[in-house]
Amino acid sequence: MKAALLYEGKAKKVYQSSEDEHQLVLSYKNDATAFNGEKKSQFEGKGRLNNEISSLIFQRLHEVGIKTHFIKRLDSTQQIVQKTNIIPLEVVIRNLSTGSITKRLGIKERLAFTPPLLELFYKDDALGDPLINDEHALLLTDITETELAEIKDKAREVNGALQEIFQSIGISLVDFKLEFGRNKEGEILLSDEVSPDTCRLWDIETNEKLDKDVFRQGTGDLITVYQEILNRLEVHV
Ligand code: C5P
Repeated sequence: MKAALLYEGKAKKVYQSSEDEHQLVLSYKNDATAFNGEKKSQFEGKGRLNNEISSLIFQRLHEVGIKTHFIKRLDSTQQIVQKTNIIPLEVVIRNLSTGSITKRLGIKERLAFTPPLLELFYKDDALGDPLINDEHALLLTDITETELAEIKDKAREVNGALQEIFQSIGISLVDFKLEFGRNKEGEILLSDEVSPDTCRLWDIETNEKLDKDVFRQGTGDLITVYQEILNRLEVHV
């Protein structure tokens, strides 16, 4: 199924599929990193949990008509996806204030953003993924103005769908990061992953954090909270 290793990221390895030149095999790793790679650890089972969680979420997005790169889950830690050229933008949507925006702009914690706030970051580890505006995005990537508008619309649509999914399992979707890529037809598709590594997920009743913040802040056990997300998704989705 796997041919050459094309790329190794912080949380996944990306292989060329041996079956189809337009497909990739994503292999989820057990590594967790935070603060642009400054904090690192390994958690047995993390790769499996994120692969399963992300697969379930992409399937659910397909059911509501949102196209993604996801094709199918291959085994416990790997999935097959359409090959896309990743656009080097991190599209963050925030429903509630926390994280970097509170520090950057002095905004209080837990304020609701209505409408949800969309931010663009330039995906570049060496630069520390800086916050950028639309004009920077057009300058730094090969997307057109129309495509940027399309990406933003899609991100907002994904937010609506994800909010519903998580609401149904008692979780508030606080914020998350998306990446988009272009497939061989030139179509822009939601790519990368949607998991507790890339979303902030708070229990609606207890406010418990069920995402990578437990690792970033050293406040809980990553595997326990990721397993909790998977259990709830498996029961309700
Ligand atoms: O750190 P910040 O508050 O900007 O993060 C916003 C959201 O984007 C969080 O859900 C975080 O997990 C996600 N994120 C990510 N990858 C990054 C930066 C942020 O998944 N490189």
